[in-house]
Amino acid sequence: MADADIKKGLAGVVVDTTAISKVNPETNSLLYRGYPVQELAATQPFEAVAFLLWSGELPDAAQLEAFQKSERALRPLDERTVALLDLIPLDAHPMDVVRTVVSQLGTFDETLNRPGGWTDPDLDLGRALYLFAQLPTIVAAVQRRRRGLEPIAPRDDLDYSANFLWMTFGELPSEAAIDVFRISMVLYAEHSFNASTFTARVIASTTSDLYSAVVGAIGALKGPLHGGANEAVMHIFDEIGSAENVVPWLDDALAKKKKIMGFGHRVYKNGDSRVPTMKAALDRLIAESGRTDLGELYDALEKEFVARKGIYPNLDYPSGPAYNILGFETEVFTPLFIAARVTGWTAHIMEQAASNALIRPLSAYNGVDERHVS
Ligand code: SDX
Repeated sequence: MADADIKKGLAGVVVDTTAISKVNPETNSLLYRGYPVQELAATQPFEAVAFLLWSGELPDAAQLEAFQKSERALRPLDERTVALLDLIPLDAHPMDVVRTVVSQLGTFDETLNRPGGWTDPDLDLGRALYLFAQLPTIVAAVQRRRRGLEPIAPRDDLDYSANFLWMTFGELPSEAAIDVFRISMVLYAEHSFNASTFTARVIASTTSDLYSAVVGAIGALKGPLHGGANEAVMHIFDEIGSAENVVPWLDDALAKKKKIMGFGHRVYKNGDSRVPTMKAALDRLIAESGRTDLGELYDALEKEFVARKGIYPNLDYPSGPAYNILGFETEVFTPLFIAARVTGWTAHIMEQAASNALIRPLSAYNGVDERHVS
């Protein structure tokens, strides 16, 4: 097979259809079940976006009320999960903690033991809602444990975004801050066959269970080339320190051929469709918090890197500083991405399970020629 026939990283390869989202680099657009993500970010609670991704339609008022009621009832952690959290080393990376806890949640699900229980679509919808409701409580508890603080119980009088912030900080920030957090969840929710979603689809394609597919997706998202980039962006900001240091820092980084996290994308080559919406949300936080230093650093690095490489920011670039201003620990940024993306992952897992097509590509052998034991 000629090298030209090999598509490393599956770059540019269309491997299947999906009805869940459409990423269009030509028009720099992203649709969730046909709706532009910017419209959803401007108008919908995150719970409605989860409903849309799973059902294909936005909920009416009655459906949203019922959905929120079900989700709120599933927020509290099982005491065995609280016990597990206390067994995990405090310095374990939050991505590893969340991956471990999600794996434990699967062991609580007795319906997995039913005949056909691994791939029952009705059971999977309930499992998706369960993980959607549990992840904020888990992520908030992880941040508080790292700070030597007791976890805070969820409140069923708060919507998804407000409750997430309440459990993390023990107080409610401004309406503007809650709204910025909501916008970040909507923007992070879904993005077609990205590496973690495709990982989930590969696992689902073997007729394995939803929890196993989500655990695999978490492992893929952890990498700084993918979801781990939002954490890496903040480490870069901390390393540069201030706008004045951008040029020398970038000179050194590029001389060492380093990848600058938060920039570039496999699909978008003229900018990530989600960035303008997230940057406007970040600007609201900068104005409210007075963190103009961070805004100046953000702008200086973007201007310098784009001028030198013609490579544009991706969603992780504005999301990192936004989560920093909201008060999240840097190592908790990618777990926030999990909490949002679990909606897209589970939509794809259910779509893949329905398609019943095992994912198993070919490889071109380039090892030693056949030989025999003497
Ligand atoms: C996400 O796929 C999705 O949809 C992902 C995501 C989602 O919502 O699920 O959008 C979320 O993962 C966003 C991406 C987050 N990752 C980063 O910010 C990490 C930094 N970015 C790069 O590693 C890179 O841009 C990738 C991995 C994101 C995409 O890279 P590609 O398409 O594989 O292209 P490439 O790495 O081959 O780069 C082409 C050239 C190379 O130069 P040469 O070796 O040809 O000289 O551009 C350079 C790269 O070195 N380049 C960069 C760069 N990104 C590309 N150089 C420095 N810094 C960068 N960030």
